[in-house]
Formats: sequence, structure tokens, C-alpha cells
Amino acid sequence: MSIRKNKITVVGAGNVGATAAHLCAIKELGDVVLVDIAEGIPQGKGLDIYESTPVERSSSIITGTNSYEPTKDSDVVIITAGIPRKPGMSRDDLLKTNAGIVKSVSEQIAKYSPNAILIIVSNPLDAMCFVAKKASGFPGNRVMGMAGVLDTARYRTFISQEIGCSPDDIQALLLGGHGDTMVPLPRYTTVQGIPVTELVKPEKLAQIVQRAKDGGIEIVNFLKTGSAYYAPAASAVEMAEAILRDQKKIRPVCTFLQGEYGYKDIYLGVPVVLGAKGIEKIIELKLNGDEKQLLEKSKEAVVGLIASLPQ
Ligand code: NAI
Ligand code: 2OP
Repeated sequence: MSIRKNKITVVGAGNVGATAAHLCAIKELGDVVLVDIAEGIPQGKGLDIYESTPVERSSSIITGTNSYEPTKDSDVVIITAGIPRKPGMSRDDLLKTNAGIVKSVSEQIAKYSPNAILIIVSNPLDAMCFVAKKASGFPGNRVMGMAGVLDTARYRTFISQEIGCSPDDIQALLLGGHGDTMVPLPRYTTVQGIPVTELVKPEKLAQIVQRAKDGGIEIVNFLKTGSAYYAPAASAVEMAEAILRDQKKIRPVCTFLQGEYGYKDIYLGVPVVLGAKGIEKIIELKLNGDEKQLLEKSKEAVVGLIASLPQ
């Protein structure tokens, strides 16, 4: 009897990619292939992660490489290749450089793993999902972006800190793009079923929403030479795990919309069910007027980015 192990490829062996590969190994999600253009980096980091597996009691095999042959027949591919931002840069400043990188990476992945599910991390996220979908030719359910899990993780952290409860007790959703126009939804935020508005005062909640929106730049300003990676990697790996273990988790995910929320052929963050087929269901919330307006603004920002992509 032969049991096929899951195979996860992580493209980009930088801060987010290497951390994601490490987490995949610790969680024993499958064998991991770490790819980067920088010679020696994926090999060195991959071997280092592999050598942690006896201690972690994981049977994952980690391979570091500069080529795509070893990625053949991957089940899930996490794309983190690209440049991160530095102080003074917005995510959108990364557009042209990262579009070229994500396009070439997605073409290679589609060639070697035609049935893979892609989780894009590279920024500007919503536009990079669009690039990856076009370059891979994959259907929308198999090309998604990680942003909402991270943005809600930040939001949940700050709420739990305010209340003095476990972050695991906070359930939260948000909509829209990964950027200044993201739309946190206090109306859909609960603390073990208790509406957050019963536990946190409106002014404090508004501050928390703003801090979550600025969560990326808060870290960039501390680090100065790059952007966040522990929480981003954990978020991407949570999505990979939901897919590989067919967990049917509801999470906010950057998703290709085809009429949902009134939008077509665009990527935006919305709640979805994540399982073995990738995005298995898009959940449409009944938004109030203010929320619709904020989502429209977010959509406009994403449309603007897509319009300025190199053709
Ligand atoms: P990093 O600079 O540490 O790593 C990026 C890696 O990509 C480098 O090792 C580089 O050699 C590699 N790379 C560049 N071109 C490549 C190519 N053509 N093929 C393979 N590898 C290539 O950057 P970090 O911090 O890991 O961030 C990666 C990306 O993820 C950035 O664009 C960043 O803005 C984005 N990001 C997105 C988040 C989200 O919420 N969606 C959160 C955090 C980061
Ligand atoms: C973040 O939100 C840089 O998009 C990345 O930390």
C-alpha cells in the first residue's frame, strides 16, 4: 500500500517564505519544497529546517532548490516571492517589480503542478492574485490570496489585549483589499458569541480597527529593513492546513469574485469556506449602507492597481 504524502511548495525563501516552510514542517502538513532565485539560500534554509524535524518529531522532508522540477505535483503552493516594503513605501510601490516576479513564478508552477492550489502572499496582494490567476490559467477556486487572516489576526490580538481574554475566543471578519481601504466589520465580531460592542467601548473599538488597518506599517516602522513575517507566515499556513486537511474553515480570503457582492472578475477579501477544493464556497453577507460604501472604495483601489499593471 502506498500512501501519498502532501506536497507543499513555498516560493520565496525570504522572511515570510522560510517561516512558512518551517511552520509547515512543524505542523507536519507534508513534504516541503522551498524555492528561490538566490543561490544557496533555499538550500541552506531548507536544510536547516529539515534538521529541526527530529527535534520537532516531524516526518516532513524539506528540499531547498533554485529550480522548479522538485516542485512537481505540489498540492498547495504558497507564493511569497518578491520585494517587501521599507519605511516610506506603500504596498502599491511594489506593484511593477512583484507583478513580473509573480507572473514568472505562476507560469512555472502551472507547468509543473497543474492541479495545485495557489496561496498568494506577495504584495500588493489583491493585484498579485489577479496576475497569478492570469499567468497560471487556474480557476478562481484554486488561486487565492492571504490577507484577511492576517488582518483579522491583528484585530483579534488587539481586542483580546483590551478585554484581557484569549485571542482564540475572538471571532472576526473583514472585507475588501489588503491595504488602507480594508473593511473591518465590528458587527460581525464576537467574543465567544458575545457581540464585541458589549465588551469594548465604541471609541476604543474604532482605535483598534485603525490599528489593525495600520498593522503592516506599524511593524515596518519598527523593523526598518522589511515587513512583518511571523504573523503573515502563520496566516498563510493556516490557510494551507485548512485546504490540505479539508477542514472547511470559514476565513476572510482574497477571492476571485464572479458576481458575488455585485462585483465581477476582481479579487477582493470576502469570507469563504476553505477545504480540499480550495475556495469551496463564497459567503455573501448582507451589508449595511456604510459597509457597502467602504467595500466600494476598497474595490476602486484594487481596480486602480489592476489597471496600472504592466500588460
Ligand atoms: P523577503 O525579501 O524576505 O523575501 C522575498 C524572497 O523572494 C527573497 O528571498 C527573494 O530572493 C525571493 N525572490 C525574488 N524574486 C524571486 C523569483 N523570481 N523567484 C523566486 N524567489 C524570488 O520578503 P518577505 O518579507 O518574505 O515578503 C515577501 C512578500 O510578501 C513581499 O512582497 C511582502 O510585501 C509580502 N507580504 C504580504 C503579506 C500579506 O499579508 N499578503 C504579509 C507580509 C508580506
Ligand atoms: C503586512 O500587512 C506587509 O502586507 C504586509 O504586514
